[in-house]
Amino acid sequence: MIPLFLLTSLLLSGFFSQIDKCHAVFPIKEATIKDIHSAFNQNKLTSKQLVEFYLEQIKCLNPILKGVIEVNPDAIHEAIKADEERKAKKGSVWMSKLHGIPILLKDNIATKDKLNTTAGSLALLRSVVPRDAGVAKKLREAGAIILGKASMTEWAAFRSEGIPNGWNARAGQGKNPYVLSVDPCGSSSGSAISVAANLATATLGTETDGSILCPSSFNSVVGIKPTVGLTSRAGVIPISPRQDTVGTVSDAVYVLDAIVGYDSRDTEATKRASKYIPHDGYAQFLKSDGLKGKRLGIVRNPFYNFDDDKLLTSAFEHHLQTLRQAGAILVDNLEISHIETILDSSVSGEDTALNTEFKMSLNAYLKELVASPVQSLADVIAFNKKFSDEEKIKEFGQDTFLAAEATNGIGKAEKKAVKNLSKLSKNGFVKLMKKNKLHALVAGGPDISRVLAIGGFPGINVPAVYTNTGVPIGMSFGGLKGSEPSLIEIAYAFEQATKIRKPPTFL
Ligand SMILES: *[C@@H]1O[C@H](CO)[C@@H](O)[C@H](O)[C@H]1NC(C)=O
Ligand SMILES: *[C@@H]1O[C@H](CO)[C@@H](O)[C@H](O)[C@H]1NC(C)=O
Repeated sequence: MIPLFLLTSLLLSGFFSQIDKCHAVFPIKEATIKDIHSAFNQNKLTSKQLVEFYLEQIKCLNPILKGVIEVNPDAIHEAIKADEERKAKKGSVWMSKLHGIPILLKDNIATKDKLNTTAGSLALLRSVVPRDAGVAKKLREAGAIILGKASMTEWAAFRSEGIPNGWNARAGQGKNPYVLSVDPCGSSSGSAISVAANLATATLGTETDGSILCPSSFNSVVGIKPTVGLTSRAGVIPISPRQDTVGTVSDAVYVLDAIVGYDSRDTEATKRASKYIPHDGYAQFLKSDGLKGKRLGIVRNPFYNFDDDKLLTSAFEHHLQTLRQAGAILVDNLEISHIETILDSSVSGEDTALNTEFKMSLNAYLKELVASPVQSLADVIAFNKKFSDEEKIKEFGQDTFLAAEATNGIGKAEKKAVKNLSKLSKNGFVKLMKKNKLHALVAGGPDISRVLAIGGFPGINVPAVYTNTGVPIGMSFGGLKGSEPSLIEIAYAFEQATKIRKPPTFL
């Protein structure tokens, strides 16, 4: 028998030679969509080469990182088609900014192709979706190549409290590419891991409460969580129509431009939010002087409590200084009323509301499937019991599922909970923003996400610092509904002024 430590070191040495091999393929790495397009236009790169590069990266790194669940067997074919289209249109202006760009979709976003859509669960394997999700359709229309499905916390972490961030029964445990033993956060873990490790140019993720902002923060990538309704949720395995939103990780603005807009299958919310979409899109707000004159709110407690970690405290102080130097006006030492309640989902009413909304919207999603081994939440629970080893039910449980199954539509308690949440938003975040005439609230780390989640407000994460053990933490910017233009100006100018992002080191 090989002693355990030897086995570990053998595995590790194998792992590092693996990583070295992956490092060999270079120039595409860390390239932005703009870089890629100019390489296309100068005939230095084709979509096919780009897809092959990412497939190679996935083959090399994914056995360890588990950021990807499936690759699209038609991706190369689609890339060849994109190359031909580009050749045919030569001389005309730049086509769509996503044309020929390979993108991974979180595994809860339906695609009508050879890929499965399962939220990481074995229960949905071989289910047949009726059509592309609204956002997937828009990506295809923009000419993007769907490279595959990104891994995620199973059922977007709504199965149980005990399910680890980034774990699902289909792919196993997603790893943080900066420090492999560290939580990658969730539930859009694979979307963040994959972009961080250059397994795709960009990815789509979804957020109900923290699921884009947190993994972006922990994997040193930009993540945009749009205003609820700005992007369609049709065809996305749901949690809550009140809080769910589809967003994007890295090179996020061009992707946002492609996926926003009205969808007749998510009518009310997308209609309501469509008034926020600027006529000429969001890329116009990528301005390096975007911080000039912006009023930024700072809530020290709890968003700058770093447990006396000197490195983090001074890094974020330094960043606040940078914001000032770039022309922003900082309004410091603000407070959000009832912040303790807002941060505790069991007290605020959020848990009550989500449990009910989840059961109703998941059952509606499952009903729409053309074929599926499970037809209802009750079926999924039964499936998990039957395959409890594969789904690790003993270890990670399915208590949230059980609590959701016990609900019975929107009754008195749920109405009260939803009302409470909007009151907490109105008297907390909204009041603070309006009273101080703020463009954004700025927070160290992703904890601001809950404040944003309960009101459907947008947020952006930008890489900000690495702890002394090498773990990334981001700066997050949150604003009122429809404030994406200001948030993009602020986040982009901050990113350009700091440039903290560096590729992962696989420690
Ligand atoms: C979808 O799942 C089925 C069943 O496990 C599998 O055979 C198939 O290869 C999967 N599709 C892709 C594109 O991986
Ligand atoms: C509503 O919020 C208050 C704090 O403002 C909290 O104490 C209370 O438990 C919440 N009620 C419900 C029904 O969720």
